[in-house]
Amino acid sequence: MGRAAPEGNAAPRTPPDPAATKAPATDAPGTGSAGRARDWAPTSWQDRPAAQQPEYPDEAALKKVLAELSTLPPLVTTWEIESLKSQIAEAAAGERFLLQGGDCAERFDDCQSTMIANKLKILLQMSLVLVHGTQKRVIRVGRFAGQYAKPRSAETETVDGLELPTYRGDSINRVPFSEADRRPDPQLLLRGYERAALTLNFIRSLIDGGFADLHHPEYWNLGFVEHSPLASEYSRIVESIGHSLRFMETLAGVEVGQINRVDFFTSHEGLHLLYEQSQTRQVPHRTGWYNLSTHFPWIGMRTAKVDEAHVEYFRGIRNPVAIKIGPAMTNDWLAELLDVLHPDNEPGRLTLIHRMGAHGIAEHLPRLIEAVQRSGKQVLWVCDPMHGNTETTADGIKTRKFEHILAELEQAFEIHANAGTYLGGVHFELTGEDVTECTGGARGLSEADLKRAYRTHVDPRLNYEQALEMAMRVARRVG
Ligand code: PEP
Ligand code: CO
Repeated sequence: MGRAAPEGNAAPRTPPDPAATKAPATDAPGTGSAGRARDWAPTSWQDRPAAQQPEYPDEAALKKVLAELSTLPPLVTTWEIESLKSQIAEAAAGERFLLQGGDCAERFDDCQSTMIANKLKILLQMSLVLVHGTQKRVIRVGRFAGQYAKPRSAETETVDGLELPTYRGDSINRVPFSEADRRPDPQLLLRGYERAALTLNFIRSLIDGGFADLHHPEYWNLGFVEHSPLASEYSRIVESIGHSLRFMETLAGVEVGQINRVDFFTSHEGLHLLYEQSQTRQVPHRTGWYNLSTHFPWIGMRTAKVDEAHVEYFRGIRNPVAIKIGPAMTNDWLAELLDVLHPDNEPGRLTLIHRMGAHGIAEHLPRLIEAVQRSGKQVLWVCDPMHGNTETTADGIKTRKFEHILAELEQAFEIHANAGTYLGGVHFELTGEDVTECTGGARGLSEADLKRAYRTHVDPRLNYEQALEMAMRVARRVG
């Protein structure tokens, strides 16, 4: 995502009609293979059961919002999406490494310049460390500019005998525990779209202004660096990259244009299908449909059933897509997902993000790798060491242990090496702030520390120092 450029977009051919029961299935995304035999349209998912969708009490208000969203301009462009797809293809082939990270759920209130810049800084610092360790180009993907809708294990929550819908993310309902706040409000979808646009606008401007220039890693310093136990290792890495850059520039006699700026791509869980549909467009000079609300949407673990709505929706979009796979994923199920979502083995199309937990990965990952190998298809393998390692303290606080996160990652590298596959990326829930949500790390955060700065309303994130340390540990492992 370098320079922002306008992209003409045709209005969706099929207006987003939440009440539609029969999709005007006019567009087959391809022909031939089993998964694509059925016709597809941006609305065809509406014929299938859709898990994790909010129920809006005011249907007319919802329709109005969706009609507006479907005419508002796209947030990203197809050439950015295609560029990411080709970079993911290179990662799948072992030539790049993907770093994906950000909040579990973005909050509207956090759409502020400092917080956005801090998120970029930590991702840039981590990627610098990973470039150094892996000696590969790193693809940077934020869980940002649209990560506003969350799947939940329970539909409702009960406090003092009052049962209300659970909080499902800022684009759906609100955190406070009152009937009005927890009622899904379609206006929040518009607010989410706007926040995503504001976030992207700021990120694009920062990048265009040179914020991500590799010659100036000092722009990315977060206050902690000089006081951190990791400071000297990080400074050594920065210095060494500076030397390499200058060396290459001396050899080439020019600035290394290709590598002096870095790109960012956006991703979010493609959960709220009416929202995703409203930004699904065709554009001049390209075939097929693109989700233009993000570069890289993923299917969450709770919505990955082959015959259900999310897989149907994802089947027809041209974006690179990812699926989260957990211990409950069976080999046959994964094989079917590959048939449906990756029928042509298109390079860069499919990423599998495994999230097994430090105690489950040795049992489940090898069989799933074999299932993919049997399919003969190429995917990008990414490890999310967060979502299989969530636990609750005796005080009822949701947390994750640094050692468990690291242990899952280390096993992931080993299992892939043994299987002859390439672990080409990592996926973290992290923040550029000094929160205390996960325990452990170089500062040895304890359960008692969690109360100091526990801010998340969903999953616990690595704070900036823990995130940087994690990148250093990964870099040492793969270097
Ligand atoms: C998430 O990434 O925040 C999430 C809910 O993940 P998963 O679908 O893997 O549980
Ligand atoms: Co999460």
